[in-house]
Amino acid sequence: MPLLFSPLKLRGIEFKNRVFVSPMCQYSSRDGLPTDWHFVHLGSRAVGGAALVMVEATAVSPEGRISPQDSGLWSDAHAEAFQRINRFVKEQGSVPAIQLAHAGRKASTPPPWERGLGRHVPPEQGGWTPLAPSPIPFDEGYPVPREMTLQEIRLVAGQFREAARRALDAGFELIELHFAHGYLVHEFLSPLSNRRKDDYGGSLENRLRLALEIARGVRQAWPERFPLFARLSATDWSEGGWDIDQSVELSRKLKAAGADLIDCSSGALVPNAKVPAGPGYQVPFAEAIRKRAGIPTAAVGFITDPAQAETILATGQADAVFLAREMLRNPYWPLDAARVLNADIPWPKQYERAKIS
Ligand SMILES: Cc1cc2nc3c(=O)[nH]c(=O)nc-3n(C[C@H](O)[C@H](O)[C@H](O)COP(=O)(O)O)c2cc1C
Repeated sequence: MPLLFSPLKLRGIEFKNRVFVSPMCQYSSRDGLPTDWHFVHLGSRAVGGAALVMVEATAVSPEGRISPQDSGLWSDAHAEAFQRINRFVKEQGSVPAIQLAHAGRKASTPPPWERGLGRHVPPEQGGWTPLAPSPIPFDEGYPVPREMTLQEIRLVAGQFREAARRALDAGFELIELHFAHGYLVHEFLSPLSNRRKDDYGGSLENRLRLALEIARGVRQAWPERFPLFARLSATDWSEGGWDIDQSVELSRKLKAAGADLIDCSSGALVPNAKVPAGPGYQVPFAEAIRKRAGIPTAAVGFITDPAQAETILATGQADAVFLAREMLRNPYWPLDAARVLNADIPWPKQYERAKIS
């Protein structure tokens, strides 16, 4: 059996293969609640054979949303609204997962298809003033975020913990903490966005503090049998910013805090970084963290081809692969990939007559 279709066990969860659906914002929620779009979008990818289906960046508070149309988990009603989706995903043999997030200074933006109207949704149009470690805007056209007080920082850590409790009620079996892509926690990690003079800024130890407080709090609220992932931007691709060495250090500490896998992405903290994007360009980060921090990793970014995915696993660079855009092009990618790699995997019984064996 190719490694891509070999099971992977983390804590009490056995993934049927190593193809994971990467979290993808759909900008289709109402007041943070998932809609029929989410049921079909996530459900289709579970039907398509992925072992894990991850819900998009889901805000732990209303002001933690990237756009007013983002998904949220700040009330029990949100948890209830996810139950039907999770039941269906599980029935297909996939693990229902959620990415918990706070958008920080990149909050209150319009959906991509409305960005011609500007980068910020102002309060009078249903937006809000974003929060951040320091009052430095992401880019031109973005508002100056409000510097968080110590009390607000503690509140956010508590909101992640509360969201974890609700994730359990919602029927999720895996949480990923979104510490990447220039959102709130990444803003605390990187010296380019964190200029604080208190216990949350300056030294590496201080910049890691919020991430580790969140991880420890979530781990306490989250059952022992369910895995906890963290997505990192392994580098800012920018001089004087966050980098792979700091990512390895954080990964070691996240492992000690009870994290089970690091999902290795990069960038998006600063707008003009030079990113050498191309097939597998982030895989070396997954390999470095796996080897140097001794924790399982997942690779993501321009992974589209079954042989490419298999090689990443077979050469010990990562334990699983996350696919994003390729899964939008083809929700049945895992079923197709199994055929290409000569792996005989079960199809949904409703679709068996279409299986080429
Ligand atoms: C429509 C869309 C929405 C995305 N939303 C998220 C998100 O909610 N959280 C996240 O961590 N990454 C998000 N990403 C990034 C993807 O998860 C992934 O890391 C990136 O697209 C690279 O993988 P790919 O080359 O397979 O698309 C999004 C990407 C796309 C295309």
